[in-house]
Amino acid sequence: MQEQIKNIQTLEELQALYSSVFGKNGSMTAKLREMKNLDNDARAALNAENVMLRELFKTRQAEIENAVILAGLEKQKLDPTLNPMPENRGTLHPLTKSLCEISAILESFGYEMRTGPEIEDDWHNFTALNTPAHHPARDMQDTFFLENGNVLRTQTSAIQIRAMEADGVPIKMFGIGVTYRKEMDATHTPMFHQVEGLYIDKKITMSDLIGDIRAFLKRFFELDDVELRIRPSYFPFTDPSIEVDIKWHGGKLDGKWLEIMGAGMVHPNVLRNCGINPDEYQGFAFGFGLDRLAMLKYGLDDLREFYNGDVRWLRNSGF
Ligand code: DAH
Repeated sequence: MQEQIKNIQTLEELQALYSSVFGKNGSMTAKLREMKNLDNDARAALNAENVMLRELFKTRQAEIENAVILAGLEKQKLDPTLNPMPENRGTLHPLTKSLCEISAILESFGYEMRTGPEIEDDWHNFTALNTPAHHPARDMQDTFFLENGNVLRTQTSAIQIRAMEADGVPIKMFGIGVTYRKEMDATHTPMFHQVEGLYIDKKITMSDLIGDIRAFLKRFFELDDVELRIRPSYFPFTDPSIEVDIKWHGGKLDGKWLEIMGAGMVHPNVLRNCGINPDEYQGFAFGFGLDRLAMLKYGLDDLREFYNGDVRWLRNSGF
């Protein structure tokens, strides 16, 4: 019996043998039942055999279990010389990246970052910006209206009003954030991002404005120089108003003039609406679409790709 136990290789066989010895109909169970008929010496011998066999089973079980573990370890040997699995790191969304870059550039020019709510009241989004009710310029923007008369901010220009109301002048700030309009095609999405700059002091001129725009575009597009075209335009909150085009080089748009931003000298009515005396202070404002600038920088055709949330696109877009 002892040899038999020692030669068993699997837990199943060991279990079967154990049952045949110690089970209900097992050989040892039968012997133990008859114990009362034995003399003292025979009882002692049977006891000893019982204990010894149980020990043997236990020992063999531990040996087999150990062997199973060792065999498993043998199969999955660790090779510390192999290269580790590549890390699956996340990356910043290209819009987030552009947002950080733009903020860093404007901050380095001395503009301080300001924010405002995305649900805006009529005063900050329109009226204070010299666009009172029934002003035709309200039609320039396809506004989402809320039932209580508030709007989803159509322009970050609202932030410049909030900043001037809160801090007065002199002020040099920029706002960056989400804006909403009812439009959707390859270059428009109902939610997009705008950047707004404002600089008001006693001797600010149009050439300061153009200087900062030029310096900003050079830094953002990483160019030694940029060719700009300044066109007269109309915005209710600036006078004179301009639009700035950039001569694009490279890619499908090579050689084309692209409209980049609106800007101008802040309208006296806007300053008055914020409690500022326009005879004492004046300055400029500019505003542009962050998404459009990011599209140009990264060579994208379709703005909607930014918002599809397709991880494969984000991985392969090379940002
Ligand atoms: N708010 C304008 C828009 O959404 C952009 C703009 C134009 C902002 C001229 C300005 C500005 O601050 O001076 O189209």
